[in-house]
Amino acid sequence: MVRLEQITKVYSLGGVDVRAVDGVTLGIAQGEFVALVGPSGCGKTTLLNLMAGIDRPTSGEVWLDGERLDRLSDDRLTRLRRTRVGIVYQFFNLLPTLNAWENVAMPLLLDGLQASEIETRVARQLERVGLTHRARHWPHELSGGEQQRVAIARAIVAEPRVVLADEPTGNLDSVAGGAALELLQGLNREHRQTIILATHSQEAALRAGRIVRLRDGKIERSGSA
Ligand SMILES: Nc1ncnc2c1ncn2[C@@H]1O[C@H](COP(=O)(O)OP(=O)(O)OP(=O)(O)O)[C@@H](O)[C@H]1O
Ligand SMILES: [Mg+2]
Repeated sequence: MVRLEQITKVYSLGGVDVRAVDGVTLGIAQGEFVALVGPSGCGKTTLLNLMAGIDRPTSGEVWLDGERLDRLSDDRLTRLRRTRVGIVYQFFNLLPTLNAWENVAMPLLLDGLQASEIETRVARQLERVGLTHRARHWPHELSGGEQQRVAIARAIVAEPRVVLADEPTGNLDSVAGGAALELLQGLNREHRQTIILATHSQEAALRAGRIVRLRDGKIERSGSA
């Protein structure tokens, strides 16, 4: 589902090169749940951004769902991100001027789906994350845990093949964090959705089927959780 071939990402800042990702080769199969772990700055977010087509590698190939991302135009990448990848962030990234329903509907609205189809899909996802009763609430009227569940509903509403989550529990207490992880784990178990989770949390990593440990932009170890 995801294949990285000899990926390197170098950021140049004021004449200094930072090798955020340094020669990573990694394959993730359809239906896998993989945790990316390692110390702060080891390249977890950079790697997720490369897999999502948010960022381009300095060298190497990025394959997602049979398409080579590092060669796609910006327009094609934008569309692919909207339809084939779901992303969940540490700070939820909900649009503050849209209510929960509208936030979840946004990827489908941008994709031009019919109103009735949007209604059905958004209702299904809000129900899945247990927030049907919060549909008309604004993000600031929701708890952190509820905001993250809205963000998960938004990430999966377009039924993407892959869900990428960057520290999704980083701003949640253990109960809300556990609920967010349960949802991701349920998607993986019940829908064979491919999940790639970057995390500092040992508890979160242990829910994955495989743990990939990074250090200084390189894979240090990769094995079952
Ligand atoms: N846009 C950027 N410009 C310059 N350097 C960057 C940029 N983004 C990341 N880096 C550098 O690349 C390295 C990897 O960063 P990255 O954010 O991927 O780490 P991380 O593993 O996600 O860390 P954390 O656990 O703190 O989130 C770090 O040294 C960071 O400073
Ligand atoms: Mg990070």
